[in-house]
Amino acid sequence: LKDGPLSGKRILVTSGPTHEPIDPVRYIANRSSGAQGTAIAQALVALGADVIFVTGPADVDPPKGVELHKVESAKDMLAAVASALPVDAAVFAAAVADWRVASASGSKIKKQADGALPVLEFAENPDILATISQMGQGRPGLVVGFAAETDDVIAHATAKRARKGCDWIVANDVSPETGIMGGSENAVTLISDAGAEDWPRMGKDEVAAQLADRIADELRG
Ligand code: C5P
Repeated sequence: LKDGPLSGKRILVTSGPTHEPIDPVRYIANRSSGAQGTAIAQALVALGADVIFVTGPADVDPPKGVELHKVESAKDMLAAVASALPVDAAVFAAAVADWRVASASGSKIKKQADGALPVLEFAENPDILATISQMGQGRPGLVVGFAAETDDVIAHATAKRARKGCDWIVANDVSPETGIMGGSENAVTLISDAGAEDWPRMGKDEVAAQLADRIADELRG
């Protein structure tokens, strides 16, 4: 058993973007680097947790000392998350694509000689955080979601917490002028039953360390 306040605790972390296939060579994705999720997983490992890390195709290397599950699409991510249960806590830091292409082509879509353009039809992806938050039996004791917003951060994140049914929301402002998306710093507000708590702007590693400490306090209490 590893040493530390989270010794013996199983904690799931999702991270990175998802890739939603259009055909075998093309996909739809988003700009998540996976930096914050990776830092959180690393901080939880440092406190002695057994971390199950489910990641989409991220820019950053996965953390060391985790049980690593690499996935591509949102559907694959949900399946990997479901198979990791039961866990003591789950942190959903992935930037899951809201939509997938309804019927991805099994072969490469070709340019048409007459210039006709392909039309993509979308289907809604499962909301992994909401699905796990709203489980009856087998729900993790603590479910943490993220909310990247560009305006009215606290109001939108508070509504999101209620809608999805998670315990905590880590909210942040990703307006381009903040430089947070893809950057090394983050300024977050932790929203829980107790209300909204603003944390000062700090490195993503420091946000991760503080969040891991809070998770340890919660699982101990
Ligand atoms: O609704 P929105 O995408 O802003 O919510 C963000 C939170 O929900 C994050 O914690 C993210 O990981 C999670 N999420 C999810 N599955 C989705 C969409 C979002 O787990 N399909």
